[in-house]
Amino acid sequence: MEMNLQERRLADTAPSGGREVPPAGTGMPASAVWDRLSVKLQDVEFRRDEPLAAHTTFRVGGPVSCFAVPRTEEALTGLLREVRELGVPHVILGGGSNILAPDGPSDLLVVKLSPACSGAVRIEDAGEGRKRAYAGAGAGLSGFLGFCRKNGLGGLECLAGIPGTVGGALVMNAGTRDGCISDALIKVDVLDREGERRELEKAELPIAYRSLGLPEGCVVMGGHFLLEESAPSAIEARMADILRRRKLSQPQGFPSAGCVFKNPPGQSAGALIERAGLKGCRMGDAEVSEKHANWIVNRGNARAEDILALIRHVEDRIRREFGVSLEREIRMLTF
Ligand code: EPU
Repeated sequence: MEMNLQERRLADTAPSGGREVPPAGTGMPASAVWDRLSVKLQDVEFRRDEPLAAHTTFRVGGPVSCFAVPRTEEALTGLLREVRELGVPHVILGGGSNILAPDGPSDLLVVKLSPACSGAVRIEDAGEGRKRAYAGAGAGLSGFLGFCRKNGLGGLECLAGIPGTVGGALVMNAGTRDGCISDALIKVDVLDREGERRELEKAELPIAYRSLGLPEGCVVMGGHFLLEESAPSAIEARMADILRRRKLSQPQGFPSAGCVFKNPPGQSAGALIERAGLKGCRMGDAEVSEKHANWIVNRGNARAEDILALIRHVEDRIRREFGVSLEREIRMLTF
């Protein structure tokens, strides 16, 4: 796919905090990264033409010219320093659970955050029946929640069943009606635009619904959380209840990216889409879920183009019928 760097919409896929648009005309193409960096950076695995369908929960997405998997945090920071200096168009990939990647090939560098930042989970006593826990951004969210349960750390049960990584959940301020990840956040550990490691206190961040408000270009490396000591059995029971409710109201078994749209203030995107009669509406193998109208499911061989066409169709209908402009929750990669 021919792409204009100025027009390129580099989605801030989890867990990058902002759009990263390289200066037009000065950036090195991602396809040249292999030759330039694969020998120099020994602790980074570089793959050519890696299909993004293998890394997104929608199971769609064509090949990217360079896919990099740093093996350690140092390798990750070294790689990011190099690609920023070279002006290479790149995105950071967390769990791939909230993105739509295009079908065609893209001359893009995708940097996968795990396993580099996955291992670090630490607990410290915070007094008064509370504990501090640190989780690396590349850790799977469900694995981190399992760790919290086992160690009697309560406070994040509302996130049970949300896919993706800790980093992705932080960038998106993932949550439900019962709460969101920032409720338990103390501070976030980032690599800033200049490649410096910094800690941003929760109070410094303009946190909002489904956004942590991170400065442009920040990459989340991990999060520090304040959690309550609680019996593992009580945490387990709360998680089981949340998972049971999710199973009743949300589709299971088909690839998807969860909710497609943010809820408009005071309204439910799912209820509006259902009222517009769009449940079951299909473009190719992409379908507005019969179970929850704010989900689009891949019934088999959906293409990104089908999903995008369906998203646009839903947006048009909701605008025409209710005068509401739906805002996308999922991130679009280079459309
Ligand atoms: N509703 C409908 N029709 C539908 C879907 C929902 O009428 O097809 C109604 C429900 O009956 C309910 C209201 O809309 O009265 C809200 O629905 P629900 O409880 O399912 O919650 P939601 O607002 O649609 C949010 C999060 C979900 C999270 C659930 C669980 C957003 C955009 N979505 O959904 O998060 O799992 O709460 O509490 O905030 C995600 O972000 O990917 C995601 C799945």
